[in-house]
Amino acid sequence: MILLTGATGYIGSHTWLELLLAGYQVLGVDNFVNSSPKALTRLESLSGQKLEFIQGDVCDPAFLESVFQSHPIKGVVHFAALKAVGESSSNPLRYYENNLGGLITLLQIMRAHDCRNFVFSSSACVYGDPDESPVKEDAALRPENPYGQTKFMSEQILRDLEKSDPNWRVAYLRYFNPIGAHESGLIGEDPMGVPNNLSPLVARVASGRMEELKVYGNDWETPDGTGVRDYIHVVDLARGHVKAIDYLLSGKPSLTVNLGTGVGYSVMDVIRAYEEVIGRPIKYQVTARRPGDVALYYADPSLAEALLGWRAERSLKQMCADSWRWQSQNPMGYES
Ligand code: NAD
Ligand code: WQD
Repeated sequence: MILLTGATGYIGSHTWLELLLAGYQVLGVDNFVNSSPKALTRLESLSGQKLEFIQGDVCDPAFLESVFQSHPIKGVVHFAALKAVGESSSNPLRYYENNLGGLITLLQIMRAHDCRNFVFSSSACVYGDPDESPVKEDAALRPENPYGQTKFMSEQILRDLEKSDPNWRVAYLRYFNPIGAHESGLIGEDPMGVPNNLSPLVARVASGRMEELKVYGNDWETPDGTGVRDYIHVVDLARGHVKAIDYLLSGKPSLTVNLGTGVGYSVMDVIRAYEEVIGRPIKYQVTARRPGDVALYYADPSLAEALLGWRAERSLKQMCADSWRWQSQNPMGYES
């Protein structure tokens, strides 16, 4: 059985479904700090299975102890974390406490139960503002905000743990910019409060829930002056986790890989692709640059292909079409 922490969140819910489709038995846990229990009902109807889920906090050792005592967990995919970059700068202690405290507690309980296969949700933000793109896994690590620091420090904690005990197998998965939703429109990204990321904001403008999009600068050193990122469809990303679990459970050694498409798209490319999907213009206004933003980065995903046999397949247009299906069928997210 595979334990998913943060299982009802955006990437967790899509990965849960893909793991079930691949034949894995899955136990999900989440404290709903940034997700809705309604995702569970949607996942049950999508998978046609009764889900195994327990509500709880990964910072709570008694909770995790009871989970491991009552289930034969062979591997863990650890999504549970806080992820709002801006809030991590205004309230860093909350981020260090939750993201590092949760990780350490989980690893201690895993060790006590002799479970040492671990998939970690890392992020391209560990690279900060990379010197060059495509970014390879051996690029310098220079996280630029407390959230990014928690991912960098988590990687360090895991690497030290591996050095202390070679029985640990860890997949460090560095995600680029996940967007899109399951093609059914039943599960998707449902951030609490006002979103900060481009894709959910474009979706809100498209649906009329927001008046216009702010484009944070068109004077960057990029082909059209707007920021360039490696957007990856969340279902492609989810399938990367299935490959990582297959890989670790087959006894292969730890690995660190980028999960991206290898292609950079600008903010204007995303707006244009979304406009094509909805058949009308997206209203936007160019404003000042957002503090902390960087001009451009995209992945070199070739190591993930070589080691996991995984590669992203879905186009930007498909990401926007699936995002729009989720948004238009669920204008208020899971509360619709
Ligand atoms: P999300 O907020 O949708 O999902 C995270 C889930 O973890 C939420 O359901 C939340 O309720 C839960 N959670 C948080 N703290 C918890 C705790 N202490 N105990 C139990 N549950 C807890 O975020 P997501 O986009 O699905 O991200 C999943 C993981 O991927 C996170 O670790 C995130 O940092 C990482 N990541 C995300 C992105 C991205 O852009 N979405 C990019 C790179 C890495
Ligand atoms: C993308 C582009 C913005 C909003 C963040 C985290 C990163 C990772 C993914 C978790 C940039 C531009 C955005 C808007 C805009 N998360 N933009 N108007 O900043 O690349 O990455 O999410 O690990 O750590 O930092 O993603 O979607 O916020 O921005 O013009 O209203 O869209 O300037 O060029 P980002 P994003």
